[in-house]
Amino acid sequence: MTIVAVLPGDGIGAEVIASSVRVLTALRPDVTYETAPVGGAALKLGLPAFPDETRALCDRSAALLFGAVGLPEYDQLPLDQRPERALFALRKDYGLFANLRPVRVFPGLEAASTLRSEVVAGLDLIVVRELTGGIYFGTPKEQRIGSDGVREAVDTMFYRAPEIERIARIAFDLARKRRRRLASVDKQNILQSSVLWRTIASELAADYADVVVEHLLVDNAAMQLVRRPTSFDVILTENMFGDILSDEAAMLTGSIGNLPSASLGTRRTAQGTFGMYEPISGSAPDIAGQGVANPTAAILSGALLLRYSLSDDENARRIERAIDRTFADGHRTRDLAPADGEWLDTGAFTAEVLKRL
Ligand code: IPM
Ligand code: MG
Repeated sequence: MTIVAVLPGDGIGAEVIASSVRVLTALRPDVTYETAPVGGAALKLGLPAFPDETRALCDRSAALLFGAVGLPEYDQLPLDQRPERALFALRKDYGLFANLRPVRVFPGLEAASTLRSEVVAGLDLIVVRELTGGIYFGTPKEQRIGSDGVREAVDTMFYRAPEIERIARIAFDLARKRRRRLASVDKQNILQSSVLWRTIASELAADYADVVVEHLLVDNAAMQLVRRPTSFDVILTENMFGDILSDEAAMLTGSIGNLPSASLGTRRTAQGTFGMYEPISGSAPDIAGQGVANPTAAILSGALLLRYSLSDDENARRIERAIDRTFADGHRTRDLAPADGEWLDTGAFTAEVLKRL
């Protein structure tokens, strides 16, 4: 029996994941979709952010479909008690080091971008973000009182060569299946971890002579991403830079609600590579519970789940084509509609996608 763990979490997570499960169930009724609490939703039940029972479900699943975690009411808690704790536990404990974030401007949606249509038309790139290292996880990581009594804080950006090499290989292999262009992003003019990053990316480039490689400093990459976005194919970068650049890249498409992600590691199941799939948007508490969230990212995350964890590329493509057609036929969610334009709520938009499967 194939199990997919459904972890809706907080804010709009529940609404958009419900859409994704509707689509997945339509295509793969043979799969068991089992829901469990995570993040603030678990805290509200008096459980830790990543309860043992949720972990047990994840352990026996082929893949995790994850909504979002984080609510303003928990912002004052120490990091290790916040809903986000669940996300870091999932990433780290399952070794999900490779975070793939495909960014596409859907045909017909060019005008939804804040950049001019001709700058973003045809945009199709993928951010490959290292997800279990760097400044998110390096130690020391703490707030403390210095020896002179002054409050201080430290985070540590730490990488070991094999961590860089394995994520770089994933990016190079992906580039080979795409347009054979790779931009490796670092800050090697100032960070030692970036000097190592660039060294390893350059060494690997020799193994991939067919891939055209450019190395960009992260500040310049942020600029080029709005200056010449369609020139990018695969963007390879470390954890925090990838976090920041992927939000920027998302906006090129008109809404952060469009961006799915896959987080993969080395664990294999009978069906494929174990992974976690989530919209990158976060919990968006300001619009939660109103039924207006854009489910595109969650639905496309379901497509990535089928592709990577269930080795079902055919149904993954069906979902991707259905999303394309829904937009091409003029349907919009609120975040993508012009100020005076018509839009569909989460459920109605999902129904249009279902019709086009
Ligand atoms: C993301 C999110 C997370 C991150 C937050 C919710 C901790 O922004 O997945 O991009 O920073 O990794
Ligand atoms: Mg982010």
